[in-house]
Amino acid sequence: MKKPIILTVILAAVVMSLFLSGQDFTYVGAGKCQICHKTEKQGQQYPIWEMSNHPKSFAALASPQAAANAQALGIKDPTNDPKCLKCHAPLADKAAELKAEGVSCEVCHGPGSAYKTLAIMKNKDEAVKNGLKLYANADAIKAHCLTCHENAHGKNFDFNAAWAKIKHPIPGK
Ligand code: HEC
Ligand code: HEC
Ligand code: HEC
Ligand code: HEC
Repeated sequence: MKKPIILTVILAAVVMSLFLSGQDFTYVGAGKCQICHKTEKQGQQYPIWEMSNHPKSFAALASPQAAANAQALGIKDPTNDPKCLKCHAPLADKAAELKAEGVSCEVCHGPGSAYKTLAIMKNKDEAVKNGLKLYANADAIKAHCLTCHENAHGKNFDFNAAWAKIKHPIPGK
């Protein structure tokens, strides 16, 4: 009679730990990051992103050039086709406003629902535990870029030049 009891206890423990660790981090949108990441002192990450082509990447799928690209591949509506959205609006399946943001902060930094509070953001380890994605070195950054830029539309990708265009460091870090 002992075995079933032990099994039940183990099962209960497994279920509990799944429950505790199974927090679902969700995407909140770049506007939420803007609040704290726009000043010169902080490093103007939001304005730098806004000036780049990444927030325009979904809109690009509605251009005449996109229509031509798509037609060549037998794709009817590039603004709704996963084959294009995968790189141009990777959060398309989460929410309409996330789709429109294209390659937003959270595409590279992870879903922000839990790490975006000031107390957690100020503590790197806590932020990582709460869903923030960091990169160990330049190779790790490059590998992430290449998930979309490797041979995209047959174009070469010069990582150093591209990173110089979009990087957004915290001053003094
Ligand atoms: C309530 C203010 C606040 C919000 C909202 C916020 N951040 Fe932060 N973030 C900070 C502060 C403060 C730091 C720490 C800066 C420092 O270390 O000097 C930080 C640091 C970071 C870092 C660097 C982490 C490290 O230590 O290398 C990243 C990346 C980051 N934030 C991304 C985001 C993203 C993406 C969002 C939106 C989902 C966001 N933040 C929302 C305040 C905020
Ligand atoms: C593997 C990732 C990837 C896929 C899949 C992809 N694209 Fe792109 N697309 C890119 C990248 C990266 C760029 C920017 C290239 C550059 O300028 O260096 C780009 C650029 C473009 C541009 C030019 C944007 C501008 O502002 O000039 C158009 C138009 C475009 N893509 C349409 C499409 C269409 C339509 C599809 C689906 C048939 C598609 N793309 C699929 C990654 C992708
Ligand atoms: C989820 C896919 C994705 C990832 C990841 C990604 N990009 Fe992009 N990137 C795009 C798309 C799509 C475009 C084209 C947007 C447009 O022109 O409308 C683009 C455009 C650009 C451009 C503008 C091209 C030009 O010639 O002006 C630069 C620079 C760039 N990306 C750099 C980077 C860097 C550096 C990384 C890695 C840190 C990166 N990207 C990661 C999808 C991505
Ligand atoms: C195309 C990918 C990409 C996008 C989009 C992007 N970032 Fe980053 N971000 C990075 C990478 C890569 C780093 C460098 C991380 C490292 O060095 O560990 C970084 C660094 C940072 C840092 C820390 C800088 C430092 O000096 O420690 C902050 C803060 C940050 N990003 C916030 C944002 C915010 C806010 C947005 C949107 C407004 C955003 N990022 C959009 C890829 C991106």
